[in-house]
Amino acid sequence: MNPIKVHDKYFKPYLTAVEIDQEIKRIANEINAAYKGMNPLFIAILNGSFMFASDLFKELEVEAEICFIKLASYKGTKSTGQVITSIGLDENLKDRHIILVEDIVDTGKTLSQFLPQLMNQSPASLKIATLLHKPDALQYPLNIDYIGFKVPNKFLLGFGLDYDGLGRNLKEIYQLTEE
Ligand code: IMP
Ligand code: MG
Repeated sequence: MNPIKVHDKYFKPYLTAVEIDQEIKRIANEINAAYKGMNPLFIAILNGSFMFASDLFKELEVEAEICFIKLASYKGTKSTGQVITSIGLDENLKDRHIILVEDIVDTGKTLSQFLPQLMNQSPASLKIATLLHKPDALQYPLNIDYIGFKVPNKFLLGFGLDYDGLGRNLKEIYQLTEE
């Protein structure tokens, strides 16, 4: 794997397709062992998680359902600040076992603001699966149940993650080079 240029920046190889595949299989095995007969509902957060969600879902051997949502943030009133809404969540979550699927948890802001809305619907359980996590960037308390890779606080690209719209198609994950 060679360094690549996307827009104005250079990225160097960081995780190979084989390494990514191995971790996804490991997470799938854990979920297969934990969710027998529970028909978990995977909620994948677009856009970034589409590739991880797809590969993870293919490895499942338990009955499971999946849906895809988009999170949009808009400015609420002064007192509420930023408000996160979900687009495309039609399923009834009551008494369901939910697994949220993210590409990367960075500051944790998006998820920590969104979780209360899911909890309001009284799911039987709610867990988070993320392919990548930057522990040093976490600013909002969040319990993450399934983590593929803990990574340093540097910008990553590929396997669903984009830089200004580009790079999502890459089979490997690349890291921004420092000049
Ligand atoms: P958080 O709310 O700060 O946890 O933001 C998470 C979202 O920011 C992710 O779902 C990504 O869409 C985006 N993001 C965070 N870090 C990166 C990165 O290194 N590369 C690409 N996107 C990122
Ligand atoms: Mg995302």
